[in-house]
Amino acid sequence: MKKIGIFYGSTTGNTESVAKTIAEKLGLADGDVHEVSELNADAAAAYDVLLLGSSTWGAGDLQDDWYDGVDVLKGLDLSGKQVALFGCGDSASYPDTFCGALGDIYNDIQGTGASFIGMVATDGYTFDESASVVDGKFVGLAIDEDNESDKTEERINAWVEQLKGEMGA
Ligand SMILES: Cc1cc2nc3c(=O)[nH]c(=O)nc-3n(C[C@H](O)[C@H](O)[C@H](O)COP(=O)(O)O)c2cc1C
Repeated sequence: MKKIGIFYGSTTGNTESVAKTIAEKLGLADGDVHEVSELNADAAAAYDVLLLGSSTWGAGDLQDDWYDGVDVLKGLDLSGKQVALFGCGDSASYPDTFCGALGDIYNDIQGTGASFIGMVATDGYTFDESASVVDGKFVGLAIDEDNESDKTEERINAWVEQLKGEMGA
């Protein structure tokens, strides 16, 4: 079984709550769910799969705590590790930058050698543009607690099942 760790940045608690739900559905221990401020080389090295969660602030920007987190990740060799991204945004108020932070992390850590899993079809979402859409898909799980909280559980369930398949043994 691969060792999975979650690192999240969350300002008002939405992405934290999503992180904890994902952890529960994957059967992770509480100790494997970390605030991104705990991310360092040793913490990353402890896992085969890194699930990275950031909400989006400003205009398509990273959640504040993630700026240091991205700097840490950029300096690491993540070859052989799988990375999956998730996060919360608001597609009604920010339709041009919906969940853009996922795209920022995705782009920023391209040089680390990590392989990305957990891409999600944009079907069922309403937004105009997002840096988190690459080749027609979100680069991770986009959650909208502000407008579509009724869809959160089914979105998480589907993603967790997808991850289980993509993580393999
Ligand atoms: C000032 C401000 C700017 C925001 N900018 C964006 C944005 O550019 N794109 C987006 O999808 N959501 C944006 N949001 C919405 C938040 O990402 C959303 O409320 C999210 O659920 C917060 O998650 P958190 O509690 O984990 O930080 C913004 C919210 C505020 C208050």
